Amino acid sequence: MDKIVIEGCHRLEGRVRINGAKNAALPIMAACILLNGPSRIKGIPDIVDIQTQSEILKNLGGEIKRFEDGTFEIIFRDGENADRFIAPYELVKKMRASICVLGPLLSKRRKAKVSYPGGCVIGQRPIDLHIKGLKALGAQIETAEGYITAAADRLKGTEISLMGQYGTTVLGTCNVMTAAVMAEGTTIIEHAACEPEVQDLANFLNKAGAKIAGIGEDRLIIEGVRELNGVDYEIIPDRIEAGTFMIAGAITKGDITLENVRTEHLTAVIDKLRDIGVEVVADNNNARIKGSSLYHNVDLTTLPYPGMPTDMQAQFMALLCTVEGKSIITEKVFTDRFMHVPELIRMGADIRIEVSSAIIRGKPFLSGASVMVSDLRAGAGLVLAGLVAKGTTQIDRIYHLDRGYERLEERLSKLGAVIKRISD
Ligand code: EPZ
Repeated sequence: MDKIVIEGCHRLEGRVRINGAKNAALPIMAACILLNGPSRIKGIPDIVDIQTQSEILKNLGGEIKRFEDGTFEIIFRDGENADRFIAPYELVKKMRASICVLGPLLSKRRKAKVSYPGGCVIGQRPIDLHIKGLKALGAQIETAEGYITAAADRLKGTEISLMGQYGTTVLGTCNVMTAAVMAEGTTIIEHAACEPEVQDLANFLNKAGAKIAGIGEDRLIIEGVRELNGVDYEIIPDRIEAGTFMIAGAITKGDITLENVRTEHLTAVIDKLRDIGVEVVADNNNARIKGSSLYHNVDLTTLPYPGMPTDMQAQFMALLCTVEGKSIITEKVFTDRFMHVPELIRMGADIRIEVSSAIIRGKPFLSGASVMVSDLRAGAGLVLAGLVAKGTTQIDRIYHLDRGYERLEERLSKLGAVIKRISD
C-alpha cells in the first residue's frame, strides 16, 4: 500500500489547475445509460472512483474510451443490452456513488439490481429517500440478499418530497431526477438538493433533450420525454478540490492561484476563509489565496448547499487546529463524520468531540506523526495538517485519497510542498 510522506513548514506558492468535479462526473456518467449514441465529456478527473464507475458501466454494456486530453467518450445504444441491469457487489462495494445507476437503469431498462451500498466510515448512509422517490414514480422495489431490486413498466410522473432527517439528499435527487426524465407526464421533486453537482447533471440531461425546470432551486419540475441523445459536455470544476487547495495556501501562509474555479460555488468556503483572515481574490475563473500570519478563530456548521459543505469539514479542521483560540465545528450532514479527529490529535491537535460538534483549541504548531486515512476528505485534512506540522508526517492508507484527488502529492509538490509518495 502506498504512503505519503510530508516534511512540513514549507510555504506554498504558484499556480494549480482544478479538475472537473468528481461528484458531478459520477452521476453524469451513470446518466449516459439513458442516452442513445455517443457522448463526449470533458473534464472528468483521472481518479479511482471514475475507474470504478467506468467498470460498472462497461459491465452494463457501455463502451467507454478515454482520449489523451482526458475527454471521455461514453456510448450506450437504444435497443441494446436490455438484459444487463445488475451492478454487482464486487464493484459497488468500492464506491457508494455507484448507487446512481439505479434511476437510469430503472427508467431505461425497466429493471435494476444494484448491490446495497451499506454504511461507511463517514456514518450512516441510508437510501430510504432514493427508494421512496422511485416508488412514488411507480417502481416496485425489494431489498433482499444485499441487493435492491427495482422494476417498473414506464414510470409515471408524480409529486415527491425528498426531505429527510438531515435535510435533502444529493445522490437521491440524482436518482429520482434520472428516473423521472423519461417518465410519463410531469414529476415535481420538492426539497430537491441544489448542489452544483446536481445542477450539472440536470444541465447535462437538458442538453441531451430532457425538460427539467427549476435547476438550482429546491423544486424541480420535470416533463418526461421519450428519448435522450448523446451530447458533448464539460463538467464543472471541482469545488471541493478547489476548497482543499485554498486551505493548502492558507495553512502554509502561502500565495497560490487556482485556475478553473467557479467561485460562486464556493461562497460559504470563501466567506469563512475571509473571516479567518485569509485573503481571497476572485478574478474570472481564477482565485488567488494569500495567507497571513494573523488568523482568527471561527465557528462553522456544515449544511446542504449553499451552506458550508461537509466535504470541507476535515480540511477546515486542520486549519483551525493551527489558529489560536477556540473554534467549534458542528457537523449537520453526517453527524459523526469525525474519524480524522484521533489522527489530528496524534499530530498534537487539541480537539474534543461533543455529540456532533468538535471543539478545537488552536495551537501555534502541530507536530509530524504517523497517521492513517479513514476516508477521502479525512485524508485531505491530514495532508493539509502535514503541510504545516513540524517534522515528518507519514500518511498511510492513501488509497482513499486516490479515489477523489488526481495526483495530489505531485500538484502540491509543484507548489513547493516537500511531499512524496512511497510505494511498498
Ligand atoms: C453526496 O453523498 C456526496 N457523494 C458526498 O461526498 C457528500 O458528502 C454528500 O453528498 C453531502 O454533500 C457524491 O456525490 C458521490 P446525501 P450522498 O444523500 O448523496 C441522509 C465525497 O467525499 N440520507 O446528500 O450519499 C444521509 O445519511 C463524498 O466526495 C438519508 O437520510 O449524501 C446524510 O445525513 C462523501 N436518506 C444526508 O442525508 C437517504 O436516502 C445527506 O446525504 C439518503 C441520505
